[in-house]
Amino acid sequence: MTQDTPRYAEPATLRVLLDEGLLSGSSERYEKRLAELDGLYRDAEAFRAATVADPDALAYFVESSVVERGEGALTIGISTLLPGLFGDEFAMTRGHIHERAEQAELYYGLSGQGVMLLETTDGQTRALDIEPGVAVHVPGHWVHRSVNVGDEPLSTLFCYATNAGQDYQLIADAGGMRKLVVADGGGWAMRDNPDHRGYARKAEQA
Ligand SMILES: [Fe+2]
Repeated sequence: MTQDTPRYAEPATLRVLLDEGLLSGSSERYEKRLAELDGLYRDAEAFRAATVADPDALAYFVESSVVERGEGALTIGISTLLPGLFGDEFAMTRGHIHERAEQAELYYGLSGQGVMLLETTDGQTRALDIEPGVAVHVPGHWVHRSVNVGDEPLSTLFCYATNAGQDYQLIADAGGMRKLVVADGGGWAMRDNPDHRGYARKAEQA
């Protein structure tokens, strides 16, 4: 290490650009196109029609700040999930459990109306409303997914341990999450996902 090499990570100012759903000062950007989410929704025909109508349609995008890595480092960012309805399922993120399943996460609603769908591998389910001014505390060992149940983009600020990682395969291997979040009389409701085969138990071993 030379004298010119900073010993510690540089602090960062992050500015929420609410109208755009962006985070000024972020260091990473990630975009998910609707066409990349083949198989996520049960109504394949409705999904296909949406991707044919707009092959480049964005599903969600994430801007985040990572200034260091290793134990204790945080990833802080904004995710913006565009609204939509595929069959009767609302637009959602792929969802994941953390690779280090015991690691928790904070979500804070910035704009739009959402539901955080949470499930454990031992059979528990929660669906928590998230809207501007509401924080959702996701403890370790919960599979989690954001669902946009409104007409506007759903933007949330999130914070998690950078080395928590994301495991998307647990949900894919299970045939999707146990519950679906569907349109119901102008609002939303949960319904059993008939394709769900149960989660592998590995998440409980962490
Ligand atoms: Fe997470």
